[in-house]
Order: sequence, then structure tokens, then C-alpha cells
Amino acid sequence: METLKVQNLNHHFGFTEILRDINFIVEKGQVLSVVGPSGGGKTTLMHLCANLLDVEEGSVENSFISSSFAFQEARLLPWKNVIDNISIGLIAKGWKKNLADQKSREIAIKFGLEEEDFDKFPKDLSGGMKQRVSFARALVVNPSLLFLDEPFSALDIGLKRELQTHLIEMVQEQGLTILFITHDLMEAIRLSDKILLLEADPGHVIKEFNYDLEQDKRDDKFVYQETAKILQDKTIISTFELELK
Ligand SMILES: Nc1ncnc2c1ncn2[C@@H]1O[C@H](COP(=O)(O)OP(=O)(O)OP(=O)(O)O)[C@@H](O)[C@H]1O
Ligand SMILES: [Mg+2]
Repeated sequence: METLKVQNLNHHFGFTEILRDINFIVEKGQVLSVVGPSGGGKTTLMHLCANLLDVEEGSVENSFISSSFAFQEARLLPWKNVIDNISIGLIAKGWKKNLADQKSREIAIKFGLEEEDFDKFPKDLSGGMKQRVSFARALVVNPSLLFLDEPFSALDIGLKRELQTHLIEMVQEQGLTILFITHDLMEAIRLSDKILLLEADPGHVIKEFNYDLEQDKRDDKFVYQETAKILQDKTIISTFELELK
């Protein structure tokens, strides 16, 4: 069984404690979301899990056969157009250029980009378009484990829902596994098998929520009800600095 196992993970930047005693396991086909306030250490946690930062205390064991990453900021190559940015992982894997281009075009269309945008360079794309390119680049290689750091933050609600639906299909049909970071509690409830709620300074898990209902059966009513349940908790209201009157 492919798993990502995080045990007793602590992290410091200089003398500042960023993460304290993080523990979780993600199994093949699961979606685990980490939700928490800005500056709480979510991106740092994901970088540690993806081996982009060295683990200093505790352990991260990743036995997934392949993984890819969509960063919080799109990080596109400015000298490559949309299709060449998306196909970069396929080219690195040795795909022929014409096949890599074809597959990249298909996924670009699926993720709401239009043919007239394919030759554009990143400087000529909107923030939401850049995010879609970055998301497509991570998914085109068909990873077993996908790291997603707030991939939908620059998208309007309609497109956000559409891409969430694509993700749910990939989870249910292909057993895609996702470590998902978001500020958006409703988004986490819509997508996740498990949510870890992080409190900041240092980032540590204060609550954990598990959802058994299959993602494609979660309607708006389910999402609103579960959100309301979570928001009854006073510690959560203060964690998110919400004012509920
Ligand atoms: N390379 C670094 N060197 C020093 N401090 C860092 C570094 N990267 C992040 N930090 C600090 O670590 C803390 C957590 O940052 P991180 O980016 O992980 O938060 P986050 O939860 O992802 O926030 P956001 O929701 O705003 O993206 C912040 O105080 C940040 O300033
Ligand atoms: Mg972040």
C-alpha cells in the first residue's frame, strides 16, 4: 500500500518554531486537507512532505510511486507558452513533443483554458489562468500523490467548483491521492476524507474531522451542515479569527 506517513514532525526557521508535533497518514486514494490561518505553517508542512525542505525533527515517509506539486503561486516558466509550461513534466519523462503537446492541450481544455490562450506567455495570463496552467502541469503527469497548495484561490466560484469536480472524479476513478491545503473550510469539507485543523504559532493540529460519505454524494446541504457543525466550536472561531454574532 502506498502511504505518506508523518510522525512527530517539528520544524523551525532559525529560532522560530513553525510546526509542532504533526502526525498523520494518507493512504492511496484518500484526500487529506490541512486547513488553518495564514502563516500557520501549512506551506512549510507541505514542502517537508514533498521533500522540498529537509526534515530536521521527526519523520516523513513517502512510499507513493510518483508525485507532483502545484505551488501556492503558479511558478510558470516565463519564456515558455501555456502548452510548453504544461507539458514540461511529460517532456522530462521522455515523451515525444507532439504527444506531450496533444495531451497538454486536452488537459488545458478540461481545466477551462481556451485554444486562443495556448500560445500565450505567463505575463499575458490572468492570475486564475496561471493557476489553471500550474494545476494542469501537476496533473498531466498522472501522479499517484498530488500536493496541492491552495490551487483554487484565484478562481471564481464556478470554475473552482468545476475543478473540484474533476479532482473528485480522479480520486474516485483513478485512486488519485491528494494532500490539499486550503483556507476554505467548505472546500475542505467538499473534498476530504480527513481534515486537519491547524492553529498557528507554532502550527499544530487542534482538531481532526473524518468524512465517510463519498465526495460525489456530498451536496451543498451536506457541506453547509458540516461547516455549521465545525463553526460551533469556540476554539475554531478564534483560530480563524471569525466574528460570528
Ligand atoms: N524559508 C523561510 N525562512 C524563514 N521563515 C519562513 C520561511 N518560509 C516560511 N517562513 C515562516 O514560516 C511561517 C509559516 O509560513 P507558511 O508559508 O508555511 O504559512 P502558511 O500557513 O502556508 O500561510 P498562508 O496561508 O499565508 O500561505 C511564517 O511565519 C513564515 O514567515
Ligand atoms: Mg501557504
